Amino acid sequence: MIILAIETSCDETSVAIVEAKGGLKNPSFEILSNVVLSQIKIHAHWGGVVPMMAKREHSKNLIPILEKSLRKSSFLKLNLKPNPAYSGTNTKNKLQKILEREPELLEQFLNFIPTIKPPKIDAIAVTVGPGLEPALWVGVNFAKALATVWKKPIVAVNHMEGHVIASRLAATSYKVKSGKSKVVEFPAIALLVSGGHTELVLVKKWGDYKIVGQTRDDAAGEAFDKTARMLELPYPGGPQIAKQAENFKKYPLTFRMGGWTRREMEKEAFNIKLPRPMIDSKDYDFSFSGLKTAALYMLRDMKERHVNIGDFTPMICHEIQQAIVDTLIAKTIRAAKEFNAESVILGGGVAANSELRAQMKKAVVRELTKTTTLYLPPQKLTTDNAAMIGAAAYLHAVKKEFAKPENLLAQGNLGL
Ligand code: KG4
Ligand code: ZN
Repeated sequence: MIILAIETSCDETSVAIVEAKGGLKNPSFEILSNVVLSQIKIHAHWGGVVPMMAKREHSKNLIPILEKSLRKSSFLKLNLKPNPAYSGTNTKNKLQKILEREPELLEQFLNFIPTIKPPKIDAIAVTVGPGLEPALWVGVNFAKALATVWKKPIVAVNHMEGHVIASRLAATSYKVKSGKSKVVEFPAIALLVSGGHTELVLVKKWGDYKIVGQTRDDAAGEAFDKTARMLELPYPGGPQIAKQAENFKKYPLTFRMGGWTRREMEKEAFNIKLPRPMIDSKDYDFSFSGLKTAALYMLRDMKERHVNIGDFTPMICHEIQQAIVDTLIAKTIRAAKEFNAESVILGGGVAANSELRAQMKKAVVRELTKTTTLYLPPQKLTTDNAAMIGAAAYLHAVKKEFAKPENLLAQGNLGL
């Protein structure tokens, strides 16, 4: 089955073409193209994603990205004769209605789509939620418009299911127990960690999800982003904190940075120790806002003592990252034990974090049974992309779970 997928839930505009096979028993995927345009530079200026700007950027970029994605996968075939399907006023009126809130996209759509042949795909997949509603709507309306002219079924995809299945997207997915990629065994515990979500999900089989724990306030990615901001590091904070923490680990004990050696720093430390919120609570919930507040007080205290924060930034980042990683791993391992998980799956932007990946591997080997397998998405597919949306769509398309275009809605708070 060939699926064209669209993702616009946040600040990445992406169109992918994915070939899927194996059914629900053993789904496997080949990414034929996965074009992702990040708006990070635009939003970084404001310190976070501005929904209306994200919407505008998606509207402007979807057609060029679709074109690129079709070309990369060799699905772009020019229409030498004008296709009568587009010239009727009926179709034009329909498209105008569907894309009435995206005039820029409508104009590009009418200029480009009639010039190409409908690609030989089986379905169109689109993220309907969770995410930023104005941003989601652009993708949803675009999918409706394409489905109208190409006469293809639509699959409405939950973004979080995309993050779960991302671990199955490439043969490079890491497994603790070596051997060729085998069928994922269930039950599985999936830790989904992104900018907006932190969830532990019990996966009984593909398509059957139950949230067993989640954050009560900030998401793990949000904790990275907000503490990074306090340290005057640019948005998004996760990769910045990871980079600084990595530097800290690399410093030899006697090497001077900002007038301090690492040994002196660790000795002085100015109480650079942050809490691991809820790490011992009996449930599987998380809370990261306490960590943020603790970091804020710690920095205030340091400033009052005239400590140059810049000197300590790598060390502080190391502690922030470790506090988040410790909590995520402890809860995941406990849930995996409780639910007798055969597999542990990681997903979401924070799953790009090298320390989380490395320490989770160790913890799974150390704490879980010999047969438990850890599935990690390839690092570049942890953050938002349409390939994972196409893969998640397959799990529904095989069951013929298609959406009626007139019922298709963007749902900012959609749950798994
Ligand atoms: O999944 P994602 O791309 O978007 C959402 O659906 O939210 O996740 C973005 C989040 C941001 O908070 C970003 O700071 C975080 O993922 N992130 C990281 C790393 N790369 C991205 N956090 C920690 N370490 C990283 N290397
Ligand atoms: Zn995401």
